[in-house]
Amino acid sequence: MNRADNELLTRIGPGSPMGEMLREYWVPACRSVSIEADGAPFRVRLFGENFVAFRVTDGRVGFMQEACPHRCASMALARNEQNGLRCIFHGWKFSVEGKCVDAPSEPVDQREKFAESVPVRSHPTHEAGGIVWVYMGKQATPPRFPDYEFTHLPPNQIQPTRGIIRTNWLQGLEALLDSAHVGFLHSANLDSALGRKVFKEESDFLLNDGAPVFEFEETPYGFREGAVRQEGADRLYARVREVSLPFFSFIPSAPKGSRMVCCSIPIDDVTTAQWYIAFDPDAPLDFDILTSFGTTSGNADHFNADMGGVADLWQQDRAAMAAGHWSGITGRGNAYEDFAVQESMGPLVDRSQEYLGTCDRVIYRARQLLLEAVKKFEATGELSFTGDDIDWQGIRSFSHAYPRDRDWREFEAHALAEAAE
Ligand code: FES
Ligand SMILES: [Fe+2]
Repeated sequence: MNRADNELLTRIGPGSPMGEMLREYWVPACRSVSIEADGAPFRVRLFGENFVAFRVTDGRVGFMQEACPHRCASMALARNEQNGLRCIFHGWKFSVEGKCVDAPSEPVDQREKFAESVPVRSHPTHEAGGIVWVYMGKQATPPRFPDYEFTHLPPNQIQPTRGIIRTNWLQGLEALLDSAHVGFLHSANLDSALGRKVFKEESDFLLNDGAPVFEFEETPYGFREGAVRQEGADRLYARVREVSLPFFSFIPSAPKGSRMVCCSIPIDDVTTAQWYIAFDPDAPLDFDILTSFGTTSGNADHFNADMGGVADLWQQDRAAMAAGHWSGITGRGNAYEDFAVQESMGPLVDRSQEYLGTCDRVIYRARQLLLEAVKKFEATGELSFTGDDIDWQGIRSFSHAYPRDRDWREFEAHALAEAAE
């Protein structure tokens, strides 16, 4: 990849081509439970700009610039009362619709007119799947919400959590697309008691064959990836990942039961919100995601706050490695291992310095799709990976073992789940 394309793909600040394109998609802003009616506003940084999410008295959610439109005091300090956010500096009040509705520091007779004239940056929100989503694009009417299966689930069947990594968004996304690393980086976890509970029989398949064949199939919303491994003499084992570009990767797992979807949402050029959303389409979730990560932060909005960094090499334990642990990042879930290698590349990796192999085919293709999309958007304003005919709810990843004369494309996740009942 040349430097110019690397810049084009990674820079997401205001006015950048990729930033402008990515703003046109609905993105997770915060967990629903992080904002209570009349409670503290929640600071959210997205695409290099600062905002607050807040829930007003009647339960509706607002999302506005963090800097008060008057003289830029933080609205995170604001009073949240009577269906609006009131700045503590001079008392100006803002509604969920993003209107200034009171400016009590102005003369009474001009107040109403003055308030109406105050420009406020605010963006539409949508709550689903325990997440507050926001649309930051330029269209007067937001695009159709991608109502993935997990966005329809009740609270006991879904648990969204957010990690924060000190890297560019594409490094985050690429780790979520990379099936080739699982049997290496995560091998200790795959072999652990918890790993065997989560991955079940997958653990052995993943550990037995480190060089699967990666097959790629483009879809209207992105692509599917089949990572095909040999399982004994006459069977194959495929992990079929669904990728809904530009943000979402549905992690392959057994057709039935709990599963995970991840996404990589730009906070700024060198910081990314890495969401891990555990859910079970059919039953209450049978594990706690924070416990499974081994986090000690107790913070579902930044679960990896305890991960260390370059100064302590992400708490890598050489003695544990000598004793057989692959990565030396012990006592933690896979996310911590992913985050360590992602951050270790530096905040914004120069992809012209890479040397790609066969195992990177999917990464390469994903980059091509994103490059084509951003160039098309720049030239025509037309958005890729979306459209009225996409069945967002039908997207589901799976893993499956089958006779070697069959093809993973013949199987369908929902049918496999039904067969597993
Ligand atoms: S800075 Fe907010 S009201 Fe003056
Ligand atoms: Fe990983």
